[in-house]
Amino acid sequence: MKKPSELSRRDFVRSALGTGVALSAPAIVGATSKGQGKTFKVGLIGCGGRGRGAAVGALEAGKILGFDVRIVATADYFKDRAVKAGKQLNVPPERCFGGPTCYQALLETDVQIVLMATAPLFRPLHLEAAVKAGKHVFTEKPVAVDPPGCRRVIAAGELAEKKELVVTAGTEMRHDWKYRKTHQAVAVEKALGRLYAGRISFCTGHMFWSRPIEPKTADDLVRSWQNWISLSGDHLVEQHVHNIDVANWFCGGPPVSAVGFGGRSRRPAGDMYDFFSVDYDYGDGVHIHSMCRQVNGCWNWVGHDFVYEKGRTNGSDHPEPKKSPIPRDLPQAPSSHYQEQVDTLYYVNKGKAVNQARAVAESTATAVMGRVSAYTGRQVSYKEIMTDPGANPKLYNLTLKPTAEDFDKGTVEIPKENSIPIPGRA
Ligand SMILES: NC(=O)c1ccc[n+]([C@@H]2O[C@H](COP(=O)([O-])OP(=O)(O)OC[C@H]3O[C@@H](n4cnc5c(N)ncnc54)[C@H](O)[C@@H]3O)[C@@H](O)[C@H]2O)c1
Repeated sequence: MKKPSELSRRDFVRSALGTGVALSAPAIVGATSKGQGKTFKVGLIGCGGRGRGAAVGALEAGKILGFDVRIVATADYFKDRAVKAGKQLNVPPERCFGGPTCYQALLETDVQIVLMATAPLFRPLHLEAAVKAGKHVFTEKPVAVDPPGCRRVIAAGELAEKKELVVTAGTEMRHDWKYRKTHQAVAVEKALGRLYAGRISFCTGHMFWSRPIEPKTADDLVRSWQNWISLSGDHLVEQHVHNIDVANWFCGGPPVSAVGFGGRSRRPAGDMYDFFSVDYDYGDGVHIHSMCRQVNGCWNWVGHDFVYEKGRTNGSDHPEPKKSPIPRDLPQAPSSHYQEQVDTLYYVNKGKAVNQARAVAESTATAVMGRVSAYTGRQVSYKEIMTDPGANPKLYNLTLKPTAEDFDKGTVEIPKENSIPIPGRA
């Protein structure tokens, strides 16, 4: 094995992917943060709560690293939202773009880094376009709603690597130092021995419209995207992907298969379930139980619990590892939302291509696999949905409608409200 200082950029990316260690950068240990005072131009696609939060995070990250970070363009499906965010972020109205193709207008500007926080359906299209346009990307999770979308993101990440671009993701635990150190100690250094089993959960209260939406237009769907399988992926994908990502990270990759169930107990709007329970089989007898629910008045827990031969961890509570996975000159931010922006700028400035596209796409695909299993009542394998086109072509090519391109072309068909998948028949 080469010494860390001899690792090439490609080796660095491979080693990060191979071990599942997010942003661990043996290649740059000892490097210094050069470029203080440099200007970085950032654009935002998707100007809702998280998008505006990410933009503020990028500005704060600039202060932490000593860079002059400017938000120079905003884009949102609804132009008034792009303009409103622009006002808050000091972007002139002529650089605030609206409409379904607003992302194209933003990518034609001089932005260097693009923050993506739209509804998940649009991420593969936007990410691919941004990388082709030569932009660095921070993408919110999840990154797709179906298997072809996940593969498109993996391909975009590979293209980004070739073009020496940074792609970071909002799977925030991979940026959190406590999680990174615990992962290093437990999953890399094996401080607790062999992993036996675990459980992950995103059980919270109601986070959806409390009356039917009765959509008539594409705009109605975008306004209520959190309620539609085709736009959000269902809440197992949209929200619980955070915990699934931690499971994949600690288990060293995606599971072999999933068996799940779920249903809709109180949700009055859209076409999604409001609870899921999925058993993920990671091979070698390791199972992770995953549950998520969005129903008021019930037991809630958001977290992880992994049981090892010599102890257990919640993913962030292990004492220091023997070797820190954190580069010595990487500053620590006060929260993981800021840390992900610090990480993005840090690597863009270093000219180090970091590719988190594959990990977040695999976690999104793992969530999609659990959803498909619950909807159909079948055991579903990762091979069927992601890696073997011949194993089950129907699942491998499963493309939810309307697609992102339907919104660009004005060919959106409105899904039926309150029509939900029936296991055994779906
Ligand atoms: N990491 C986290 O902690 C975290 C927290 C919240 C949300 N998120 C993720 O961030 C994303 C956005 O969530 P949010 O809470 O900000 O939602 P939001 O509804 O507040 O904002 C989404 C914005 O994107 C816009 N939009 C939708 N489709 C678009 C398109 N095709 N082109 C341009 N703009 C489009 C909407 O008009 C809206 O303004 C989601 O993927 C969500 O899962 C992550």
